[in-house]
Amino acid sequence: MKKIFITGGAGFIGSALIHLLNKQGYETASFDACLNFIDNPQYYQKCLFLRKKIYYQPSKNYTGDIRDKDSLLNVINDFNPDIIVHLAGLPMARVLEKFNHEMISINLFGTLNVLDVFEKSKAEKIVYASSSMAYGHFHQIPQKEEAILNPINIYGASKASGEFFVKLSQKKWVIVRPTSVYGFTDCANRVTQLLLDAAFLRKSAWIVRGETLDFSFIDDVADGFLRVIVEDKANFQTFNISRGESRSTIEFAEIVKEHFPHFTYEIRDPDKQQVFRGPQDIRKARQILNYNPMFSIEDGIKRIIEQSKEYRFYEN
Ligand SMILES: NC(=O)c1ccc[n+]([C@@H]2O[C@H](COP(=O)([O-])OP(=O)(O)OC[C@H]3O[C@@H](n4cnc5c(N)ncnc54)[C@H](O)[C@@H]3O)[C@@H](O)[C@H]2O)c1
Repeated sequence: MKKIFITGGAGFIGSALIHLLNKQGYETASFDACLNFIDNPQYYQKCLFLRKKIYYQPSKNYTGDIRDKDSLLNVINDFNPDIIVHLAGLPMARVLEKFNHEMISINLFGTLNVLDVFEKSKAEKIVYASSSMAYGHFHQIPQKEEAILNPINIYGASKASGEFFVKLSQKKWVIVRPTSVYGFTDCANRVTQLLLDAAFLRKSAWIVRGETLDFSFIDDVADGFLRVIVEDKANFQTFNISRGESRSTIEFAEIVKEHFPHFTYEIRDPDKQQVFRGPQDIRKARQILNYNPMFSIEDGIKRIIEQSKEYRFYEN
């Protein structure tokens, strides 16, 4: 079995992916600095604790920062992976001002370090987590992989530029564009997490008028990553990995409300930073990888509520 090295393995997607890879018998290593940018250390620690308890059992667990190339090189030489999956990053389009400078240093310069170390290592393939934000506003319904990248914020630009550098590699590469991933232990202040937090904690919430997103459940996204990792037909290609349909944020909020009748939310007009997106076209992943996302938002929300209760997430 191949050995898989995952940067950002302790994160939301990384821990779910490690769980899946372990179940399939792969040897995994995680390299993670355990950084979080929501300014709520207690919330983050709770998520991290639960990820470790439920999902995150890599064969080797390295703590380190991708901005430190020497330590990255040391651990890659130590683990000697066949495949590197690069998930580490600052994954928020809107970040608190005090974290602004980290966006470029982690998402761009950190990625360049990972790529450099990959070229020097014996690893044969790299999988890079980009984002639908690399597209900027969607101009197609659904948005195809071939669309010209025209990011409209620093996050999107940092993810898009990573893609161009990945394609310079002399070895095998795959680019994955996930979008609006949601699930238990997500803690990057995405709208899905904020709505569920508000419903459980009886707090107020708001959503953006007219926003539609391709809400993608974590188990489906982890499955998509698994397929691009193991499938040779994925090499040298870019894939949208998402649910492949768009639903409005109002629909998401209304489904939450069905579970929590007391829940109310406000609808605000979009501001200048709003990126107008919709469904991604996932036909390529379906055809080449047999990717078949299973979770509607009805299923996904139900699952998060069940897990939140099972692990008493909102108690104390
Ligand atoms: N979750 C989504 O909706 C989504 C959508 C599109 C793309 N992505 C991309 O997928 C990847 C994973 O996202 P996620 O939602 O799991 O985010 P996450 O924040 O949960 O995980 C990222 C992990 O990277 C680690 N990390 C950050 N900076 C680091 C550094 N300098 N050195 C080492 N580790 C570092 C963090 O500690 C964290 O564990 C990111 O690259 C993100 O841009 C996510």
